[in-house]
Amino acid sequence: MAMATAKLALLVALLAATSYGALSSPELRGLWTRAERAVEAAAELFVEEDLGAPVIHALRPLVGSADPDPLPLGVPWDSWRLAVETGNIIDWKTVPAHCEQAIVKYLLGDQYGQDSKVVVDEAVLYSSSFKLRGNDADKEKLVWLFDIDETVLSSLPYYAKHGFGYKHIIICSYIYVYITKPLNFTSLKEYVLQGISPALPETLRLYSALRSSGIKIVFLSSRKEQLRNITEANLRLRGFSDWFKLLLKPDDCEGTAIVYKSGERKKLQDAGYVIVGSIGDQWSDLIGQAEGKRVFKLPNPMYYTP
Ligand SMILES: *[C@@H]1O[C@H](CO)[C@@H](O)[C@H](O)[C@H]1NC(C)=O
Ligand SMILES: *[C@@H]1O[C@H](CO)[C@@H](O)[C@H](O)[C@H]1NC(C)=O
Repeated sequence: MAMATAKLALLVALLAATSYGALSSPELRGLWTRAERAVEAAAELFVEEDLGAPVIHALRPLVGSADPDPLPLGVPWDSWRLAVETGNIIDWKTVPAHCEQAIVKYLLGDQYGQDSKVVVDEAVLYSSSFKLRGNDADKEKLVWLFDIDETVLSSLPYYAKHGFGYKHIIICSYIYVYITKPLNFTSLKEYVLQGISPALPETLRLYSALRSSGIKIVFLSSRKEQLRNITEANLRLRGFSDWFKLLLKPDDCEGTAIVYKSGERKKLQDAGYVIVGSIGDQWSDLIGQAEGKRVFKLPNPMYYTP
């Protein structure tokens, strides 16, 4: 098969296999274009006339155009995702190899946005009932906590470029091998430093609802203090225009998120603030000490933070 025909087949397969729904922000929808380019790059890399390897495998780590779950190995994607989101599977390093195409469909298709919408609908409903209680002086003390990465700002463009699940496939003649590729924190930080991470649109909706209700906004992130300026700029760029506090980890703090965030919440409580709710993509954003009245867990099947 000629290279051009092969590429055309790849793109047709991509378009047929996946949905254009995505999240409702233009930045995230723009990822499709990048995914298509990545497919072409993969095709260049893997489709060699003399290799004879099935074209479809080059796509698997990027867009998943093959039949669902061709390898009957391991926990099915839906079961794995449920166990991850409920915190039953912890300390995982990578997405299971056989779930790769499922995670891409999940994140770039409709489901990720829909799952986030359900969480935010509940949070908005809850916050609107909460603000009716208490007198004005009490209301001055109400705060809502937001984590930042994968809660407010998305690293999806980074993962789209670097491969979901941090996997590579090596095709050697007819043999292909799955290997894990650990998350490269250096290149992820380079992405964060660009300060262009898109907003997660559902969380932006919660932020707007809370601002109009008068509940104070606190961002509590494991990003280090050295990223303060770029973080502020990125938040403003994406419509998170102001806040009561932006709490970042001291540069020399190496503690886990759960310990650091618990300590910061405790300080807020000790200062007389009432944590009405908090929202994050990791359980370590939400549990520990001083959890507040309710927590809302957004989906994140990309990585685990202790
Ligand atoms: C991680 O990313 C950095 C910056 O892009 C790069 O220089 C380095 O080689 C990468 N490390 C690995 C193990 O791929
Ligand atoms: C952050 O911005 C302030 C001015 O707004 C500047 O004084 C400070 O040096 C900046 N910090 C870093 C780490 O760039």
